[in-house]
Amino acid sequence: MIGALRASTKLRTVALLGIPSAITLCIGLVASHTEAAEPDATPPSQANQYLPPISDLMIATIQPRHRRLWQAAQEKNWAFAAYELGNLRAAFKRLGEAYPTEHDIPFPDMISSVTEQPLEEINTAIEAKDEVGFTKAYADLTTACNACHQALNYGVVVIRTPSGKSDSDQDFTTTEP
Ligand code: HEC
Repeated sequence: MIGALRASTKLRTVALLGIPSAITLCIGLVASHTEAAEPDATPPSQANQYLPPISDLMIATIQPRHRRLWQAAQEKNWAFAAYELGNLRAAFKRLGEAYPTEHDIPFPDMISSVTEQPLEEINTAIEAKDEVGFTKAYADLTTACNACHQALNYGVVVIRTPSGKSDSDQDFTTTEP
């Protein structure tokens, strides 16, 4: 008697559990069917894309172009200097687009406020093939690099005009910010 009751309760439980499981299974099948219908149709969301940090972008996109621009002018290769100046400008633009704010400051505005004038002066010097003008404008650009580093508390990063001894544009000998 008790055994029969237990058995029927068990049966009912199975039946009750069975309905939701069947529904879940159906939903599952529908869901997997929907997914299967659009294989890889949706591009990866913005959140899944890797955005390198500013320091990586500086090393990868800004620093080498700053150095190569100098090198081109030393070789009086004005065509390449013009090309690399364009690349440097575009790299700064992309940086600002990738990081709209930094330290609560609009980063694109900060970039343009310090770099726009020296970049324009460099452009003028390149067009005129003016070595003296280039040297001055390049020094101003380098000052702009350091002005931003200092303003954002990265004064340890000291950029310089590459010297004859080394073509590096980074002064690793200065330890004070
Ligand atoms: C508008 C601001 C700004 C300007 C302009 C700027 N930088 Fe930077 N730079 C930064 C910031 C911020 C960092 C530090 C990022 C970090 O470590 O998170 C940095 C870091 C660097 C680093 C160190 C990266 C590392 O990992 O060691 C180098 C090299 C560098 N900048 C080169 C330059 C050069 C060259 C210029 C000029 C042509 C320049 N930067 C102009 C903001 C700027």
